[in-house]
Amino acid sequence: MVPIGATPGADRVLRSRDVGSDDDALLAERLAYYRAAATEYDRPYAERADLRALLGVLDEFPVSGDVLEAACGTGQWTARLAARARSVTGVDAAAEPLAVARARCAADGVRFVQADLFEWSPPRRYDVVFFAFWLSHVPPALLARWWERVASMLVPGGAAIFVDDGPPEAAFEDVLDGDVPLVRRRLADGGEHRVVKVFHDADALTDVLTGWGWSARVRPVCGNFVAGVARPPA
Ligand SMILES: C[S@@+](CC[C@H](N)C(=O)[O-])C[C@H]1O[C@@H](n2cnc3c(N)ncnc32)[C@H](O)[C@@H]1O
Repeated sequence: MVPIGATPGADRVLRSRDVGSDDDALLAERLAYYRAAATEYDRPYAERADLRALLGVLDEFPVSGDVLEAACGTGQWTARLAARARSVTGVDAAAEPLAVARARCAADGVRFVQADLFEWSPPRRYDVVFFAFWLSHVPPALLARWWERVASMLVPGGAAIFVDDGPPEAAFEDVLDGDVPLVRRRLADGGEHRVVKVFHDADALTDVLTGWGWSARVRPVCGNFVAGVARPPA
């Protein structure tokens, strides 16, 4: 099965790089991967029926009002969000996938911002913060900080809604050993990148969020994926 963001058939020898624990270097490498992968990124959405089914799961979640889509990528989810929202602001650090998203979703009420989600200062708060296949890329050391940022971006009563790869999806990735959970991704041009990838278990993630005071429900969906809705402490 083709992992999200991975390219099948480009099986070359890894350029020699050690797997270390330098979070900044790994975050930069992840971003370089997504910049280079922009033209290949949508392939799994065309090839995987379970992924297309996952897009439909969004209909089960309370999307409304003004939505921030974190790490919007090529905009696979943006039009679906826009169909139910007053506005959608898609944020992504990489120009290349954002260019695809802009071409795909040129609707009223949809805007895109190129920014690092860990640095960006939102101009306002949102009713919903949505993120697809982003949480798994947040290093464990930054997980609490990410959820604090989400809480700071939500209006009172707002909700975080997210989908991602669950633990079964690890079987289809080239999982590397190291201090930080990593997978190796290969692009069609033979380029190889290490990408931080945490396959969150639904129950364990629910427990973590609950422990931080969130009201959270995360569940397995569509086979290998997880989906959740979470509201921060008042
Ligand atoms: C797995 S893709 C998900 C794209 C889209 N949400 C989807 O599900 O199709 C992860 C995205 O995160 C973006 N990204 C990586 N690091 C980022 C950062 N620090 N701030 C914002 N976006 C980032 C990448 O450019 C990439 O588009």
